[in-house]
Amino acid sequence: QRSTLFPYTTLFRSVGKIDELEKALGQMPDGNLCIGHTRWATHGGVTQENAHPHLSCDGKISLVHNGIVENWRELRSGLDDHNFLSETDTEVLVHLIEKNYHGDLRLAVAEALRQVRGTYGIAVVHADHPDELVTARFGSPIVIGVAQEEYFVASDATPLLPYTNQVVFLNDGELVLLKRKGMEMTTLGLDHLKIETQNLDWSLSQAEKNGHEHFMKKEIFEEPEALMNAISGRIDLKNGTARLGGLNLSESEMRQIRRVIFIGCGTALYAARVGKYAFERLAQIPTEVEIASEFRYMDPIIDEHTLVFALSQSGETADTLAAMREAKRRGAIVRGIVNTIGSTIAREAGGGTYIHAGPELAVASTKAFINMAAVAVLYALMFGRNRSLSMATGVRVVTALMELPEKIKKILAESEHIQSVADKYAHYHNMYFLGRGVNYATALEASLKLKEVSYIHSEAYPGGEMKHGPIALLSTDFPVFAIATRNQLFDKTVSNIAEARARKAPIIALVSEDEKDFTAADDVIFVPRTMELFEPILNTVATQLFAYYVAVKLGRDVDRPRNLAKSVTVE
Ligand code: AGP
Repeated sequence: QRSTLFPYTTLFRSVGKIDELEKALGQMPDGNLCIGHTRWATHGGVTQENAHPHLSCDGKISLVHNGIVENWRELRSGLDDHNFLSETDTEVLVHLIEKNYHGDLRLAVAEALRQVRGTYGIAVVHADHPDELVTARFGSPIVIGVAQEEYFVASDATPLLPYTNQVVFLNDGELVLLKRKGMEMTTLGLDHLKIETQNLDWSLSQAEKNGHEHFMKKEIFEEPEALMNAISGRIDLKNGTARLGGLNLSESEMRQIRRVIFIGCGTALYAARVGKYAFERLAQIPTEVEIASEFRYMDPIIDEHTLVFALSQSGETADTLAAMREAKRRGAIVRGIVNTIGSTIAREAGGGTYIHAGPELAVASTKAFINMAAVAVLYALMFGRNRSLSMATGVRVVTALMELPEKIKKILAESEHIQSVADKYAHYHNMYFLGRGVNYATALEASLKLKEVSYIHSEAYPGGEMKHGPIALLSTDFPVFAIATRNQLFDKTVSNIAEARARKAPIIALVSEDEKDFTAADDVIFVPRTMELFEPILNTVATQLFAYYVAVKLGRDVDRPRNLAKSVTVE
């Protein structure tokens, strides 16, 4: 929609994918200053009128906003003389700025934001200040790319890579005025702040597809290298332990930890489950995994002996950030296991470890799962060896971890077979993923991946749970994907497969490569053997490929599935 309501501003808005907007835009208009936004609908439907940018009454001020203005009704009641064109909370912001504007854009924005309760990451421009852009954040990420004679403002660092590696991450309550000749950072009270530029150690080629059809496939095939990057320099084979400097705890402080809690969302939450198994098995420390969006509203029993790990690829997930802040408020020691350098969770945690997976552009998280799980196991190993775990066991763990990249390559080499299995099951509308023990984490992540990219309904269950109800759904059109790699629970899982088969459910089994005569399933996917703790890492490579190929078979928008965002910065 090209809007002529506002004489000073050329406005283009459209519903749907970015390429719809590109069609509406046609030839990119001339100019040296523009703002744009892909909206995650919170207030108001998915319509052109509710799309950003939103403009002031005189059309001179344009604003885009990530976040939620929680006191928008109260603020709007003081703007009765303003003309609103949308149902959004965001539009209140631009009219509030207009109300406070008396010639100084930065001042007007600061005045307006001081009245706001809620979260925002905004960019604001004014027709009378053609060389200025004001950006500010509270609760929603803002990162500024500093290039040669130009600036970029984004909610995530990855899109900046084609233009610059020099970035400035804003903290909550900070505001930046970008001008042709430079930038000034202040508080909302306009007290000047020192600007800290960071260097993103990611390359442009990492942000491109490098010949792969989709980013998701590229990022799965990067997993051997990504895992190497997560562990290199952090393992001590000789002593059978790990060296994670970001923990920022002395050996004796480590021994004061009596409980570990992992928090995260989605894929990060399932990687956290691997950490739970590892901490209880290697370090004998009671460990829980909490859904971040639940944790912050629960009454967690936390004290100074509780160590909370916040897992996040983007480092900007609002639910995880809020849960981490709640844990800190209650006195926990908090550490991050994060992919994006300089992200909010990484900066606000009292330390932690970057997983070095490299940029992940597909909405479906893949290599980040592998690396988050691996780093969580490294922490468990370090705590275990700080307590009673023997050096011999530690050496076995480190050895098994070092073998994983090559074993992942063996699974990637099976991608054609996995694709043939995926093609065979792509027409079903439902699927169960079954896994026991550590492979319940595998089943959870596999089920999420399939849902996300193929839109097929699936659920993950611990195998033993099937007989308590879920088995009622099985029939010839309700397949089961069983994670049945050879470990202490193998026989039990084979029994679950038999139960499912007796109900005529089609069966896919993921089994260890030495089970060549495995006949209990309709289709079999073989994976190399590894230490039980690391099975979720290896097995998930296969289930990611399965989900990817099902989505491709169904013609889905694999890298940008409907309804999803890469970084969910709203609660
Ligand atoms: C995973 O494929 C999804 N994209 C989603 O569940 C994601 O894992 C979740 O939103 C957490 O994101 P984070 O790791 O960036 O915090």
